[in-house]
Amino acid sequence: MTLNKFFFIAVIALLAGCADQSSTLSVSSPDEQVSFVLQVNQQGGVHYSVSKSGEQIINQSQLGFRFANAESFANGLSVRLIEERTVDETWEQPWGERQFVRNHYSEQLVELSDGIRTLDLRIRVFDDGIGFRYEFDEQFHDSELLISDELTQFNIADRNSQVHWLKALQKDRYEYEYTRSDLDAVSVSHTPLTLKTTSDRYITIHEAALIDYSSMVLRGSANGGLNAELVAAYDGIKVRRTGAFNTPWRTLQLGDSATQLLSSNMVLNLNEPNKLGDVSWIKPGIYMGIWWGMHIGENSWATGPKLGATTSEAKRYIDFISEHGLDGFLVEGWNHGWDGDWIANANAFDFTHANPFFDLLEIARYAEAKNVELILHNETSGGVGNYERQMEQAYDLYQELGVHYLKTGYVGFFNGYPRELSDKMMSDGRVVYEWNHGQFMVNHYQKSIVEAAKREIAINMHEPIKPTGLRRTYPNFMTREGVRGQEYNAWSDGNQPAHTTILPFTRMMAGPVDFTPGVFDLLFKGEEDPSRIRTTIAKQLALMVVLYSPLQMAADLPRNYDEKLELFQFIKDVPADWQKSLPLDGDVGEFVVYARQQRDSDNWFVGGITNEQARSFELNFDFLDEGDYLATLYRDGADADWQSNPYSTVIESLEVNNQSTLGIDMAPGGGFAISVIKR
Ligand code: NOJ
Ligand code: CA
Repeated sequence: MTLNKFFFIAVIALLAGCADQSSTLSVSSPDEQVSFVLQVNQQGGVHYSVSKSGEQIINQSQLGFRFANAESFANGLSVRLIEERTVDETWEQPWGERQFVRNHYSEQLVELSDGIRTLDLRIRVFDDGIGFRYEFDEQFHDSELLISDELTQFNIADRNSQVHWLKALQKDRYEYEYTRSDLDAVSVSHTPLTLKTTSDRYITIHEAALIDYSSMVLRGSANGGLNAELVAAYDGIKVRRTGAFNTPWRTLQLGDSATQLLSSNMVLNLNEPNKLGDVSWIKPGIYMGIWWGMHIGENSWATGPKLGATTSEAKRYIDFISEHGLDGFLVEGWNHGWDGDWIANANAFDFTHANPFFDLLEIARYAEAKNVELILHNETSGGVGNYERQMEQAYDLYQELGVHYLKTGYVGFFNGYPRELSDKMMSDGRVVYEWNHGQFMVNHYQKSIVEAAKREIAINMHEPIKPTGLRRTYPNFMTREGVRGQEYNAWSDGNQPAHTTILPFTRMMAGPVDFTPGVFDLLFKGEEDPSRIRTTIAKQLALMVVLYSPLQMAADLPRNYDEKLELFQFIKDVPADWQKSLPLDGDVGEFVVYARQQRDSDNWFVGGITNEQARSFELNFDFLDEGDYLATLYRDGADADWQSNPYSTVIESLEVNNQSTLGIDMAPGGGFAISVIKR
């Protein structure tokens, strides 16, 4: 740096630092309750703070960047308002939790300058929260820009808030139970992370529109702060970009109550509109599959006596699905590469050739004839190079077969090595490993979505990148795992009863989840075996409503549904696409009740779940339209308990209208499900 340039920056900093009036900008939500304030301090550091209804939510928090190949952009800055506007529009989802979404915000575009370079900050303030992002233009950097740190902070005003968080940078990605703790105990967390303040306000920190950038995790700091940390690539660089680009939105969703938090559409609103045009080929639905049998050890992915994916077994499933009017059939283990240690042998996977016992062409034909959507599966074991080499050819084949749905998977890690997933061959032959939530993998997942969309294929991604609302822009990015799902009940120490009462407020603030509920045979290995599902059956039914997914799996084996056809009726009735979704009540880790109206229908479905505590819920049917409805209630029996008596269930029919109320008892680890059908 020349002396002149240094002097210039110092002068600007001084001006920015003392000119208090001109260096403070603020913008409020349309209802004027949420405010975002931007200030420049003595050193010319730019900080923001947030309040809601006069209560401070975020204290002064830093903005800015450090680069590996350029000067930091953090101090010596001045700010200038460039543009402001208000937007109020309503857009339609092709599928989703609700058909219409209102997008209403006040926006400011602010230029930050160090006297030489400028960087724009776009701020949108909604009634339900705040999003801001950095916008780089070409003049900022000559060549490739290497971000070594994004300095965004979230200094939580109420240090005594309780936090639900998921430790980041771990071997099994997002597949852990959430921790509930004081703010000070947060080490490094994935987002969404949700706080409940001592004044019972709810705050969810996340990001929207994560494209060609590393995902943000939150690192706890000594003073109750949470600092953005971008996930590093193998060489320590966090993000590499050329040309103009925008970062993802940094988001704070704010609710005065738990249900207000759950009603937020802000993450979707911060994404770009649908880029795919006509997506009428994407149809939400309920699917079953050759899947759970593998997880409980009855079947195998590998060829041999237990092979699940055979032509005859596939036909048996398709017949069952068709007979009961469900929508889709998933088959795993249909292709080459599963024999031996499939996690280690990622490069053995072949995505265009079926195992010798599975006639792919015939099954595609058979499914179509039976009006069942075939969902093929591609497990990559993190062998991203192997997958990308075959991707276009494989997707071409699936398109030719008339397949519109693909489940992908990225199990895998390199033993003992701190980076996981995705073998990436360097020009010198070295293989390096990347986190599944760094920029390299973000781009891989996006490539899969874009290539699939070209061929009218929708994706259900397992071991994915977390959702950030991209389903608005790419509606074929239908659903994904990215959670400790039902599979953990099959072969690990399982999920605690509270787990699914935490998910709506955390993981699902980001988007739909392929959790795979609906298992009836809760003690599938017998009463003595520790492997079991820690819920009642009524709760398994309720999860079909509470845990929204446009492709919703009914995960159990056909024989277990055959045995309980009266309960299976709910799975046959419940849809996976909604006109409206109303969170009725709940609290993080305690309980959740949702009422959802079926898309293009007068019918409603209600699901309620509780943690390990029994509780009563007073359901008010005032969400119904005028008229009479037949409600079928599937509830826990009086003696039900996830631990001692999980199968005790009562089914009742009752006439209801929008004046009706109903008291419902949920057992420990229990819940209830109701179909409410218009007369
Ligand atoms: C993990 C996925 O979550 C699961 O659904 C799948 O069956 C296995 N990987 C095998 O691909
Ligand atoms: Ca998984």
